[in-house]
Amino acid sequence: MKLYSPEFAADPHGAYQAMRREHGPLVPVDIAPGVSATLVLGYREALQVLGDPARFPADPRLWQSRQDTGCPYTAAMGWQPTASRTSGDEHIHYRHAITSAIDRVELHPLRRMVERTSVNLINEFCQIGEVDLLNQYAVPLTVEIIDQLLGFTPEVGDAMFDAMMTLRDDPAPEAAAQADTVIATAMTKLIAAKRATPGHDLTSWLLAESAGRDDAETAQAITMLYTAGTEPTWNLIVNTLLLMITDSRFGSELLGGALSARDAIDEALFADPPLANACISYPRQPQFVGDVWLPEHQPVVISLAGCHDDPSVRGERTGNRSHLAWGAGPHACPAQSVAMLIANEALDQLLDALPDLELAQPMSELTWRPGPFHRALTTLPVTFPSSPPLNYV
Ligand code: HEM
Repeated sequence: MKLYSPEFAADPHGAYQAMRREHGPLVPVDIAPGVSATLVLGYREALQVLGDPARFPADPRLWQSRQDTGCPYTAAMGWQPTASRTSGDEHIHYRHAITSAIDRVELHPLRRMVERTSVNLINEFCQIGEVDLLNQYAVPLTVEIIDQLLGFTPEVGDAMFDAMMTLRDDPAPEAAAQADTVIATAMTKLIAAKRATPGHDLTSWLLAESAGRDDAETAQAITMLYTAGTEPTWNLIVNTLLLMITDSRFGSELLGGALSARDAIDEALFADPPLANACISYPRQPQFVGDVWLPEHQPVVISLAGCHDDPSVRGERTGNRSHLAWGAGPHACPAQSVAMLIANEALDQLLDALPDLELAQPMSELTWRPGPFHRALTTLPVTFPSSPPLNYV
């Protein structure tokens, strides 16, 4: 199965089912032309891999050194001096810096920030009666919040957004190099400004505890927080909205008060986790999992979405948070409460203001971005009865 194909993006759940029928819980796949991997579709096998970083390290250096074909997904898979692409003591070192900074985020002011940003955005379209909830709501909302959390100026924020959008679409080498230069320049400016005048933000907190890390590593940590924090969060918002708009359980029970936006988010984290296939590891020897030997030096990708479809663990989901959407084990997402708060508040504000959202086109005409890792719509066009602007209190 080619995970990078448009056919996979159009119907990943059908593909997971077909792969499970043919191969069982561990499936040989291609994540890019000439780049083979094992996709884990079994929930129990996934927990085994995620809980054993000594056998399944996240550090890709040995694999990269043996790759003779280039892999286009260097941003997602290539080595970096960051928590997500290191293992052992190195991982502990980088993760400690990130979690210490994230743990300083105060959730009450963050909620107010999301509320204010949501209201401003809703007021831009509430009287028009139609909007693309991805590109006019979820994306600008998430980017604004993550920019503020990181202490970006508008100039740094714009540069980072443009560079990230270039890099995620597998650009030609010159365009990728140019985007990397834009990021490096923006990070140099930001770090100099925050050293001179520290603020109440993640960048300043990373710098305050940067003993043992140079500025290049701090720049990598900020860039990773930006990319890890933005796209999955906006996709969680729209994947949940799509579910709420199209799944009758949520429409009626939400409005009737039986189910909360939080329940809908949890269901979306099961049904369409924003990082559908992630938590990549690079075994250095052949490894025995289930009853299969996995080859050495071939990435192992956990299908978070596929594991949720595993018939051996499927059951009642309401109030059930046993999904793997945040990963598991030592690399599990350290920012779950921040991401949940942003998504929950964004949904509450929108649904309070515009409770009667309808898809502006048939569900079958919605398109999803191709790519092996994410579950991401290209647009979410909706209509609703025109409403007066909101007052922010
Ligand atoms: C809905 C939103 C989000 C989802 C679904 C999500 C999901 C995940 C997953 C599955 C991982 C594990 C990746 C792996 O093992 O390779 C992860 C790691 C990570 N996430 Fe999130 N995340 C979200 C939001 C955020 C936000 C808002 C931030 C920061 C502001 C963040 C920062 C990180 C970091 C730094 C890691 C790497 C941790 C490590 O390797 O030790 N994430 N996330």
